[in-house]
Amino acid sequence: MEKDRLNLVGKRIGIFGKGGSGKSTLTALLAMGLNQRGYHVCVLDADSTNVGLHQAFGFDQSPTPLLDHFGGVVFSGGLVTCPVDDPAPIDHASVNIDRLPSKYYQKTDHGLIFLAAGKIGDQGPGAGCDGPIAKIARDLVVYSDREEFVNIIDFKAGFEDSARGVLTSLDWVIVVVDPTTAAVEMAVNMKEMVEQIKSDVLPATAHLETEEMVFLANKIFTEAAVSEVFCVLNKIPNTEVEDYLRKKLAHYRIEPLGSLHLDEAISLSWLKGRPLFSPEANEEIKNLINKLEQFEIESDVIRNLNSE
Ligand SMILES: Nc1ncnc2c1ncn2[C@@H]1O[C@H](COP(=O)(O)OP(=O)(O)OP(=O)(O)O)[C@@H](O)[C@H]1O
Ligand SMILES: [Mg+2]
Repeated sequence: MEKDRLNLVGKRIGIFGKGGSGKSTLTALLAMGLNQRGYHVCVLDADSTNVGLHQAFGFDQSPTPLLDHFGGVVFSGGLVTCPVDDPAPIDHASVNIDRLPSKYYQKTDHGLIFLAAGKIGDQGPGAGCDGPIAKIARDLVVYSDREEFVNIIDFKAGFEDSARGVLTSLDWVIVVVDPTTAAVEMAVNMKEMVEQIKSDVLPATAHLETEEMVFLANKIFTEAAVSEVFCVLNKIPNTEVEDYLRKKLAHYRIEPLGSLHLDEAISLSWLKGRPLFSPEANEEIKNLINKLEQFEIESDVIRNLNSE
């Protein structure tokens, strides 16, 4: 693949979905697939609850959480606040990876960078809420003087992080849909949420005490760049299930970008804490990346036509 086809450079892609649908699986496979394609990839583990994503990349431990780098949670006297109570961006949230102490990231032999926002479980009982971890996911920008990254962010299950505004700093959202009604509903709701942000529906601010805070919260939402919601099917056991799911989603005008099949190699990798490896899934991911690149080519054509 020629370098000029690497048109996803700079994208911030958030992975969402219901609990257990396959967010972390897609995060790992997509990140490694993009890396193999020639992209510089930066992965953020932004799931405040579940542990283990680092193992899917072959790391034996997770890096020190960025929560420490940014000064700890406000509930323990630290600097990082919950974005619902305090929409103000984290200070110095743009991080030059070449100057960040190496304990805060892991790097594969192929240059894929892995960071972790933090875990609420590390904060002890009565720690407060995990909003500060969502704020890191919202605000963190990783850059380097040498290369530009594709950013993949693995979020916690459900809508809570979205309600805290993490969608506002993403370009694209990918919702993972496993064969359940709840997962389909999540995709539909996420599509609606992004449509609302695109049509400048403002966030909840009745609880904010100052006009500056209300202004800031509204600004973050009205300036959001999020443009697209894609859907990827996962754990598909056969064509009957896939056809049924596709029909269900078509009812809401959602056409999945692709599918990952139910694959024993994937569940075994997670069970054994080994790097995620499945030749079949790798092929499915290549198709998915082709489609994302094709989508971007077509979007570029439309943008150019509109600007003429
Ligand atoms: N395509 C697949 N084939 C077989 N098993 C899968 C597949 N995708 C995921 N799994 C299994 O489902 C489990 C949950 O997957 P994963 O951790 O990726 O989901 P998640 O959405 O990130 O979950 P959580 O909400 O807990 O973060 C994995 O432990 C794995 O065993
Ligand atoms: Mg997960």
